[in-house]
Amino acid sequence: MKVLIVYGSTTGNTAGIAEALGERIGHAGHDVTVSNAADVTAEGLCNGYDAVLFGCSAWGTDEVEMQDDFNALYEEFDRIGVKGKKAACFASGDSSFEHFCGAVDVIEGRLAGLGAEIMEEGLKVEGDYSGSRNEVDGWCDRIIAAL
Ligand SMILES: Cc1cc2nc3c(=O)[nH]c(=O)nc-3n(C[C@H](O)[C@H](O)[C@H](O)COP(=O)(O)O)c2cc1C
Repeated sequence: MKVLIVYGSTTGNTAGIAEALGERIGHAGHDVTVSNAADVTAEGLCNGYDAVLFGCSAWGTDEVEMQDDFNALYEEFDRIGVKGKKAACFASGDSSFEHFCGAVDVIEGRLAGLGAEIMEEGLKVEGDYSGSRNEVDGWCDRIIAAL
């Protein structure tokens, strides 16, 4: 399977999870591309891929604000060509905020609305990958099983 992972990350936490997911899915024999949202364009983003994983941290206080780079992509999400593709979301967050990893729910809902097939409920990680390896690896294995 060809798998695309696109992440938006300001301090590197979601980026670290994206890299860990990419490595594990690659080791399972799939062809994985990991991209920073700052480096991609929306038009036809998902073309040629069987599955897409989106990672984005949240930066609002009262309401969910997406990480800046991802937000630019999200504004043109209807052009990414995700209809009929397998998809799932992940993020690093801080559970002291009201909407823990709130971007995950927003993006997941939008993907479903665009006709993507959500493979697995979104992954919400406290802090960075090093503190939540088992949780991330377990989620990743369920994604691999669903590919
Ligand atoms: C002003 C501000 C608002 C934030 N809002 C949220 C939030 O709504 N939900 C959440 O889970 N984390 C929130 N965070 C925490 C970051 O999302 C968290 O540190 C995350 O690990 C950053 O990931 P990144 O390095 O991939 O960008 C906020 C942090 C700041 C400074």
